Amino acid sequence: MMRIFIALLCCVCLTQAYNVFSRHENFEDIVWFVNKINTTWGAQHNFDPEHYTPSDLRVLCGTKIGKKFLPIKYHELTATEIPDTFDARKQWPNCPSISKIRDQGSCGSCWAFGAVEAMSDRYCIASNGKIEVDISSEDLLTCCGFDCGDGCDGGYPEGAWKYWVDYGLVSGGLYGDDSSCQPYEVPPCEHHIEGKRPKCSEGGSTPRCDRKCEGNTTISYNNDKHYGASSYGIGSEVSQIQKEIMTHGPVEGAFTVYADFPTYKSGVYQHVTGSVLGGHAIKILGWGVEKGTPYWLVANSWNSDWGQNGFFKILRGRDECGIESSVVAGKPQIKK
Ligand SMILES: *[C@@H]1O[C@H](CO)[C@@H](O)[C@H](O)[C@H]1NC(C)=O
Ligand SMILES: *[C@@H]1O[C@H](CO)[C@@H](O)[C@H](O)[C@H]1NC(C)=O
Repeated sequence: MMRIFIALLCCVCLTQAYNVFSRHENFEDIVWFVNKINTTWGAQHNFDPEHYTPSDLRVLCGTKIGKKFLPIKYHELTATEIPDTFDARKQWPNCPSISKIRDQGSCGSCWAFGAVEAMSDRYCIASNGKIEVDISSEDLLTCCGFDCGDGCDGGYPEGAWKYWVDYGLVSGGLYGDDSSCQPYEVPPCEHHIEGKRPKCSEGGSTPRCDRKCEGNTTISYNNDKHYGASSYGIGSEVSQIQKEIMTHGPVEGAFTVYADFPTYKSGVYQHVTGSVLGGHAIKILGWGVEKGTPYWLVANSWNSDWGQNGFFKILRGRDECGIESSVVAGKPQIKK
């Protein structure tokens, strides 16, 4: 496979030896190992090892991978049109939602977060900055039901984008944001040793679906519905994903989380040790090359004190952990 280069035969042997003899399953060992080997990223204790084992974080990996029902959209491409680097935050500076990092709390709702984050960006981009709305993760998480999966126990990104087209989604910001119709109801959770937030492993059940505004109660739930005009999947070729982001804005992607990912601090993530924790959905907003390593630029939903202010980079071009295989998106309906 791509990982095996004949010239690096010794490294291949070494890598295999590590996999067999030193698969690291606690955060102390993982952080030590990642920082010891010569890889493309650095690790830190994002989650207090006194309180967390990697398997406690399964609750944060709430994406079911593998159900495919949206049509695949195909972009015609010319050879030269894709730039080497692209950052949606810089491309559309009048759309602040692109830079926003949310917090899913102790609920496996990443499938809903990756979706509403990209949808919010897409309203702003498609309307040239006229529509600035945070689409509600709460409305999607609690009201989509069966088509989206199991709420806080994990769901389908494809179902989220389809629900948006069929039923619309109201406005809804972060926990405690009373300016929007349905702010997120699950409180942010604490990764660190000191801190006021509840620990991220203390998971709760999915909040109830209420078809009324709970934050700003002067808004009408039905009048606040924002609809999608279409939803679709994107083929797994890098250039297809790039063209979609360049043209319409950030997309939702999903990948397999291994136990080393939660310790990400900087650089370009690729899996080096630890076993599978589950599927995770995120928002991809750009790409680039760092020290010769191509990457995707990604927004996570584990608050802004995780990773690089809430963002991370992951290896691009090798379908690392499946990151290029489940990209979904859609177009917003802009009311005239
Ligand atoms: C680490 O890996 C990079 C990229 O493969 C290589 O250029 C560099 O020489 C390596 N450094 C060490 C100390 O092995
Ligand atoms: C609540 O919504 C109304 C109507 O959109 C708006 O005028 C008001 O400023 C909002 N309240 C807050 C606290 O944002």
